[in-house]
Amino acid sequence: MRTKLIAGNWKMHGSKSFIETLMNGMTGQLNAAMKSDVLVCPPTIYIPLVKNLIGDKAIAVGGQDLSEQEQGAYTGEISGDMLKDNGCQYVIVGHSERRSLYCETDILVAHKTGKAIECGLTPILCVGETLEQREKGTTMQVVEQQLDAVIDTLGIDAFANIVVAYEPVWAIGTGVTASPDQAQEVHSAIRAHLRNKSAQVAESIKILYGGSMKAANAEELLAQPDIDGGLIGGASLKADEFIAICNIAG
Ligand code: G3P
Repeated sequence: MRTKLIAGNWKMHGSKSFIETLMNGMTGQLNAAMKSDVLVCPPTIYIPLVKNLIGDKAIAVGGQDLSEQEQGAYTGEISGDMLKDNGCQYVIVGHSERRSLYCETDILVAHKTGKAIECGLTPILCVGETLEQREKGTTMQVVEQQLDAVIDTLGIDAFANIVVAYEPVWAIGTGVTASPDQAQEVHSAIRAHLRNKSAQVAESIKILYGGSMKAANAEELLAQPDIDGGLIGGASLKADEFIAICNIAG
């Protein structure tokens, strides 16, 4: 049985006062008995503050990106070791915003994924299609190409340390959520694609859904057999809403 993971991707949002209010709201409501794993991914500069506000509560912290390099003359970059050094357990890699806005290629995402694993972080590997690609019927072709870049670079066994997040680009930040059937169809196909290489990896890997998941739609989505959690943007910036989703996950 796969433990569910509810992850908040704060993207480039927050301030010290906002984060103090958000985290105090979350830690005050977190159900200590919940079985799902809870993760927040703040902007890098606020990771130490968030770690301090979490204290001993069962909330993990992750980065939103990392350099594929070890360390060195890479102005502005953040290494996996630096994230680990500041208490991170996870890091998002290949988010569609980084692929589209910062031209991250499938192979660069594969190298970032490998570097995350090397640094002792669990990468959350984001895959997903645009509306145009879905309307052309190429959703799984796109998703499999994104997965295969990592499989070909790192090998299928690396996926024992990877979480996959299916994020249909057309559902991100739009309020247009994939239907439970649409999401389950792709999640099931992702698991089947991995099963072709390793039955063990396929059964154990967590596949999160991301794209306008809210408290109102989380129950139906999280009830799907191949949806093992959520990667949540907007709703993770509201303590009540995010905790409500965590409670739905159980
Ligand atoms: O990484 C999660 C994010 O892309 C989803 O954003 O606002 O649609 O929940 P949102």
